[in-house]
Amino acid sequence: MATQLFEGKEHASYYQKYRFSPPQEIKDLIFSFVDERIKKPHGFAVDVGCGTGQSTIILAPFFEKVLGTDISAAQIEEAKKAHGLPNVTFSACPAEEVPVGDASVDLLTACAAVHWFNIPKFLKEVDRVLKPRGCLAFYSYRPHMEVHYKDCSEEMSKVFREVEKILAPYQHEKVHHVKTGYEEIFEAIPYTDKKRLEKVVTKIPMSLAAVMGLIQTFSMYQLFLGAEPEKAQKMVQTTQEKFLQIMGVTSTDTEVEVWMFNVLVLAAKPQ
Ligand SMILES: C[S@@+](CC[C@H](N)C(=O)[O-])C[C@H]1O[C@@H](n2cnc3c(N)ncnc32)[C@H](O)[C@@H]1O
Repeated sequence: MATQLFEGKEHASYYQKYRFSPPQEIKDLIFSFVDERIKKPHGFAVDVGCGTGQSTIILAPFFEKVLGTDISAAQIEEAKKAHGLPNVTFSACPAEEVPVGDASVDLLTACAAVHWFNIPKFLKEVDRVLKPRGCLAFYSYRPHMEVHYKDCSEEMSKVFREVEKILAPYQHEKVHHVKTGYEEIFEAIPYTDKKRLEKVVTKIPMSLAAVMGLIQTFSMYQLFLGAEPEKAQKMVQTTQEKFLQIMGVTSTDTEVEVWMFNVLVLAAKPQ
């Protein structure tokens, strides 16, 4: 059965507001891998498990046509509202049944998503839809982010680790794929032209308010909120207060830098 932890309308609107776009470092790695294998102009890209579309629209400048798909109708509704690019469309459907023809896709991406899918079925579907020499890119940020601000980064990151510890009991078993750097998923990809980068560091500037919003997009926070709403909301409030106190500021508009350690799996189907 599909893992449906992202169905709520409120969760989807948090996504739209607080999910960040994939950082430049990740984009550069993906597009140089693709450029080395496929001639330009690039035709068709599909972003699977696209959520509210932040990971989909980055493909728009590089491909003639882009499709974002997600199993959650609420996420797709938000994606359609938020992004009106002429070459991008969105569709609600499972990753294991992508609504496109055989051998039609030049690049298939999944950002912070592949670990939720039925991996064997999904990889078969990827093989069906990719063109010969078509590429795949599965990537995700990993746990243990760092929050940097002036000379108090150590203390700030400690607070973030406390949050991760509180949320740990709500972590879905599928998140083990992320913790192990997509090792099993990488092994299961049936192509020889493939590589796995385990720790791509990205540094994303965001306001403290956005950090608090990001925490609330985590599936484990949503599960915590469902199980113990008061405790969950209190955790957000006290965490924010701790951050403000450490930073010595009063405004949540104050900018910090979130360091993420990402896994990126790249592969190309044989000719
Ligand atoms: C953590 S979110 C990532 C969203 C987006 N790619 C991003 O980076 O912001 C994971 C997404 O995968 C979707 N998802 C989970 N299982 C799925 C499946 N079997 N088929 C398609 N989408 C799925 C969820 O609905 C959710 O929107």
